[in-house]
Amino acid sequence: MLRAAGLVKSYRAPSGAAIRVLAGAELTVKEGEFVVVAGPSGSGKSTLLNVIGLLEDADSGETWYGDERVSALGRNGQSRARARYVGFVFQSFLLLPSLTALDNVLLAARYAGRRGPAARRRALALLEELGVADRKDHFPPQLSGGEQQRVAYCRAVLNDPPLLLADEPTGNLDDANGAVILEGLRRRARAGAAVVVVSHRPEAATGATAVYRLRDGVLEA
Ligand SMILES: Nc1ncnc2c1ncn2[C@@H]1O[C@H](COP(=O)(O)OP(=O)(O)O)[C@@H](O)[C@H]1O
Ligand SMILES: [Mg+2]
Repeated sequence: MLRAAGLVKSYRAPSGAAIRVLAGAELTVKEGEFVVVAGPSGSGKSTLLNVIGLLEDADSGETWYGDERVSALGRNGQSRARARYVGFVFQSFLLLPSLTALDNVLLAARYAGRRGPAARRRALALLEELGVADRKDHFPPQLSGGEQQRVAYCRAVLNDPPLLLADEPTGNLDDANGAVILEGLRRRARAGAAVVVVSHRPEAATGATAVYRLRDGVLEA
């Protein structure tokens, strides 16, 4: 489902020096796999996820979704590919503060051009499953961190995307919340999604089909 080949990415430090974060990273994730990428803070985990999720361009290398080389698409093509293939669980949630929890979840359907009663029913069922249905009309600032995280997870999985990317899904949460999100992601993998979780916390690796370590810009088994 996902293949990343030879990803190279550098940032420019304020001093002008280049910081090489990815140095030829390779990653293949098939349908049904639950892959965890571990590594300490600053090792480039978020950069890797942003590149394979088409939120940032690499300097070189390729990203493929199935047989489509999505790294070669223009901005609009990449937006369409993201809407069709990717569910992204952001570390900082990125809920829109002016929308209710339910409408934040429904954003995913809107981006994919699938509004309507079926999407709404599914959004409500997901909020129920994650234990936040009674918060559906709340705005993000009125929700706890754990509740925001669960709403963000519902948004990421609403369209049943074939590729799920999660950046430190347990990072901001108490252990109970984190376990709920991780179990949801594992269940999605068992149902056939390709799942990539990046985390510095070892418990994220429980039940993983593969664990890699990001070191010096490449993934090691
Ligand atoms: N936009 C940016 N500009 C400059 N440096 C960046 C930028 N984003 C990340 N970095 C640097 O790249 C390195 C990797 O960052 P990141 O991918 O966020 O690591 P991780 O998620 O593993 O903590 C860090 O040294 C960070 O300071
Ligand atoms: Mg990070």
